[in-house]
Amino acid sequence: MAQRDLLKMGNPRLNEISTILIDRHSKETQNLITDMLETMLAANGAGIAAPQLGVLSRVIVFGINQNPRYPEIEPIPQTVLINPEIEILDEEMVFAWEGCLSVPGMRGLVPRYKKIRYSAYDQLGTKRKVVAEDFHARVVQHEIDHLEGILYPQRIKDLTKFGFIDELEKTGVIPTITKTESG
Ligand code: NI
Repeated sequence: MAQRDLLKMGNPRLNEISTILIDRHSKETQNLITDMLETMLAANGAGIAAPQLGVLSRVIVFGINQNPRYPEIEPIPQTVLINPEIEILDEEMVFAWEGCLSVPGMRGLVPRYKKIRYSAYDQLGTKRKVVAEDFHARVVQHEIDHLEGILYPQRIKDLTKFGFIDELEKTGVIPTITKTESG
């Protein structure tokens, strides 16, 4: 198993809609999941979606460890979701700065639903149903957007709130703490 190259914004595959994964237990699927996890960890990402590796299947992975240096980021257990579905539990939207491994070096202010419920199969074939809020809910919405061919810049309401991390940090627009891409 290996890390794979990440597609970057501008590659038309990232704008395509991914298809339902039928053969959840195939060797190919298991290899894909392993490679997604390895690629995410190597890139220090909070999540990754199969289309970012050029595979147009509805698979996402995410997870973030507790880091005492960044106490504002809640830990999320490492999670694999196959064919995820999402339900909005609260129409309230929250704005926060987001990044993406396919949009390296940049951040944008993106609105996301505060509270959702997602359901999906995990890599062992168990159906999971989880209520998520705040950062956890944001990561899931970001990754599922990838399956719909949507990158976070398309969600930005005010494009003056989109820029390079170094400039945003230097000018105090965002705190100089974030080392994790949202995926
Ligand atoms: Ni992303």
